[in-house]
Amino acid sequence: MKKRLLIIGASGHGKVALDATINQDKYEFVGWLDSNLVKGTNVLGYEILGKTKEVKELAITYNIDSYFIAISNNYVRKKVFEYVNKECPNLSFAKIIHPGSIIGLGSKIEAGSLILPGAIVGVSSIIKVGSILNSKATLEHDGVMNSWSSILPGVCTGGNIILGSLSYICIGSIISHNIKIGDNSVVGAGSVVLKDQPSNSLIMGTPAIVKRSRSEEENPF
Ligand SMILES: CC(C)(COP(=O)(O)OP(=O)(O)OC[C@H]1O[C@@H](n2cnc3c(N)ncnc32)[C@H](O)[C@@H]1OP(=O)(O)O)[C@@H](O)C(=O)NCCC(=O)NCCS
Repeated sequence: MKKRLLIIGASGHGKVALDATINQDKYEFVGWLDSNLVKGTNVLGYEILGKTKEVKELAITYNIDSYFIAISNNYVRKKVFEYVNKECPNLSFAKIIHPGSIIGLGSKIEAGSLILPGAIVGVSSIIKVGSILNSKATLEHDGVMNSWSSILPGVCTGGNIILGSLSYICIGSIISHNIKIGDNSVVGAGSVVLKDQPSNSLIMGTPAIVKRSRSEEENPF
């Protein structure tokens, strides 16, 4: 029997996550939780069941087994996980992999991660908890995405890169092989990263350089 799933967050990113869930065909999607939408609102044919803070009661009411957090802001996604995991420690944290992605031999994808259509998870790569590999993005062989990190559409990395926890690589960037990007950094759209980059920084350009520092709570875009 399929596990009954809630998705937290019904914005554009939530819709993308639902599409991948339906294609993956592993969970039975029950409905959304979204703190910014009115209960009963219909999103892609499924109802908003309530707010995130009601997760404990709603999980019982709807006989839920699993949840997924479809919030694209890494920091907020992590905070919501900490709340839900505390409220509902018995629910499992779903992993959603669109069947139109390519998953390399020996790679590992942890709970709470989302792999979208056309994405390539290279051989022996590791995608740690709560991370997002977006549409048509390639994480080449032996790459590591640390927890709560995001690689946006069309990014291309060389082999052996390490992306820090809570960091983002924005749309269309290129990351050369063996590069390490620190924690909580943002690589701006269309950048070309040719050397290691520090934590807590906004990095951009060709070749990419640090433009300024950033805090953990700052909105990425
Ligand atoms: C990360 C990002 C949001 C930062 O942009 P920003 O908020 O404009 O950054 P700042 O306000 O600090 O701008 C700093 C400067 O860098 C410039 N700049 C911003 N992004 C740039 C980029 N990707 N490459 C080169 N220069 C850039 C700005 O024009 C500004 O220049 P100025 O000082 O001469 O005016 C942006 O680079 C980016 O990546 N946007 C796309 C996000 C994305 O991937 N969306 C897809 C979602 S699916």
